[in-house]
Amino acid sequence: MSAEFPVARPRRLRRNAAMRRMVAGTRPHPADLILPMFVKENIDEPAPVASMPGVFQHTRDSLRKAAHEAAEAGVGGLILFGIPAVKDARGSAGDDPDGILQVALRDVSAEVGDTLVVMADTCLDEFTDHGHCGILTDAGDVDNDATLERYASIAVAQARAGSQMVAPSGMMDGQVGAIRAALDADGFADVPILAYSAKYASAFYGPFRDAAECAPRFGDRSTHQQDPAGPLEEALREVRLDLAEGADAVMVKPALAYLDVIRQFRDTVDVPVAAYQVSGEYAMIEAAAANGWVDRERMIMESIVAIKRAGADLILTYWATEVARAL
Ligand code: PBG
Repeated sequence: MSAEFPVARPRRLRRNAAMRRMVAGTRPHPADLILPMFVKENIDEPAPVASMPGVFQHTRDSLRKAAHEAAEAGVGGLILFGIPAVKDARGSAGDDPDGILQVALRDVSAEVGDTLVVMADTCLDEFTDHGHCGILTDAGDVDNDATLERYASIAVAQARAGSQMVAPSGMMDGQVGAIRAALDADGFADVPILAYSAKYASAFYGPFRDAAECAPRFGDRSTHQQDPAGPLEEALREVRLDLAEGADAVMVKPALAYLDVIRQFRDTVDVPVAAYQVSGEYAMIEAAAANGWVDRERMIMESIVAIKRAGADLILTYWATEVARAL
């Protein structure tokens, strides 16, 4: 061993903050971030979501205010979820022009629609009294093709209300194609579809079911969402189908437990790849931080950087405004 050993010293580029900053390969930008927001019909005050400290079910007013804050912080987009006062088996509030989500889309688009991208989650679970993402058969199964008609109608209602992009999250077969055809037929050929392509049947959605009040009354979503143990090829097949049906951007969900899928998508497709850092990912870090067990801000930023490094162009995160400010 020569006296100069080691010649290669990776530590040289880590010597100080300026050096590390200059060579950093992963630089999340505020415009990469999309903030999911909840708006509830007929409430007077924003309601905190117990399992997601810092997240609220908004009133129309508090939603507008939070949307402004996100826009001022430079966030790239908002994705809205609506919680109606009345639910029924077919989720009628979902495509009612006066339904809470449509009202909120009009409100928010009018205020910040020129600054950021206002979009809607296109699904039925927030609107159905049984909490499932579709129309049920008498046997209690989700009827794929009957559900597609509802999604198509909901997407059109959302576009009419000013949604600049729609994001179907129900994992029905053919949902992207059905929505594309309906949007085109209604004069919305310009409205892009962000497809939840690889969406896993995940325990990480737990807190969301409080936030959106959409826990299924019986059963679960494992007949339509992907099995976490399913082969990677299944995710690739889903994304190929969505692209063939006209998806403009694709999503992996959840994010942190599925970084390999994000990377595979980035290496395979030629459209933007989004990743959804879901409610359970948020709750885990907030809860650990509230106990004083972790450094909250560092852990949030590290998780965002990891998702970006894995290949996500866009990141849906409940911390979007805070992270955008920090960047
Ligand atoms: C379905 C939908 C869900 C989430 C986003 N869209 C719930 C589900 O599939 O059960 C979860 C988001 C999160 O956990 O943060 N409309």
